Parts: sequence; structure tokens; C-alpha cells
Amino acid sequence: MERTLIILKPDAVQRGLSGTILSRFEEKGLKLVAMKLMKIDRGLAERHYAPHKGKPFYPGLIDYVTSGPVVVLVLEGLNAIAVARKMMGATFGFNAEPGTIRGDWGLSKTFNLIHGSDAPESAAAEISLYFKPEEILGYERPIDRWVYDMSAGSPQ
Ligand code: RTP
Ligand code: MG
Repeated sequence: MERTLIILKPDAVQRGLSGTILSRFEEKGLKLVAMKLMKIDRGLAERHYAPHKGKPFYPGLIDYVTSGPVVVLVLEGLNAIAVARKMMGATFGFNAEPGTIRGDWGLSKTFNLIHGSDAPESAAAEISLYFKPEEILGYERPIDRWVYDMSAGSPQ
């Protein structure tokens, strides 16, 4: 099982798309294990996007992600990182395939609605930036026996 950090960025919240986007992940079968509405301050944005420091779009990116409330989620599931990235679609809305989140609702480069971790290492680092360990909830979901094939004893 993997965990991934998802941010519904300020444009998603302002456009009233948070619930619709969250529903897609829930309907896919990914399990919600942490969630909060918050405003990202500049220090946190700079830590999160440190790998992009120095790139031409970096100052605009920091302004954008700090411009309004965001919804931050941790989702858990088999291959959750890659599955969520696929559901998000290509970075720029105008390139993203229809049926993906950015493909269905995005047209912009910077204003692309959503962030998702891109690897297990970045997921672990990002989750710890936004959540204390006790804010991530482990719980049973009876429906998981229908989301996954458990006949071999582990989720397949
Ligand atoms: P993210 O990290 O937010 O999940 O998005 P990503 O992996 O698809 O894209 P990445 O290359 O990591 O870029 C981070 C965010 O910076 C903004 N961006 N703007 N104007 C531009 O050319 C440009 N390029 C990137 C986007 O908000 C992108 O999600
Ligand atoms: Mg990225």
C-alpha cells in the first residue's frame, strides 16, 4: 500500500471543484486517511516546491499556491502515487487528456487545480510537511474486500 499527498490548489477551491475532485478519488477506491482545509504560507510553499527553486515559473508558483485556501489530502491504495498522477493528467490543462482532472477542468499552465506526489520519497517528505503522524488515520474499510482481490491474503 502506498500513500500520496494531494493538494486541491486555490483555483480548485475557488471554482467549487474540491468535492467533485475528491469524489473521483473516492469512487476510484483510494482511501482517504487525512484531510484539511488550510492556507499554505510562503515558508511552507518554498519548502514544498524547493526542487523547482530557480526555475522561471517558481515565483509565480509560490504566489499561486499561497493565494487562497487549499484542501490537502493523504490517499492510500495500491500504487496510489501513480494512480493519482494518472487521474490528474498532464501538468498543463491544455495538454491533459479528457477524462483526467486537469483535462476536464483545466486550460492553464500554472493554474492546474491539483498537486500529487511523484515518487515514494517525495510522498513521504510532503506528507510530513502537512500532517503530524497522529493526523493520519488508520481504519478498516469493509468495502476494501470488494475494491481489492484479497484471495491471496494481500490486496491484489
Ligand atoms: P505538481 O508538482 O503540482 O503535482 O505538478 P506536476 O508534477 O505535474 O508539475 P511540476 O513540473 O512539478 O510543476 C509544479 C507546478 O508548477 C506550476 N508550473 N507552472 N507556468 C509554467 O510554465 C509552469 N510550469 C509548472 C504548475 O502549477 C505545476 O503543477
Ligand atoms: Mg511535481
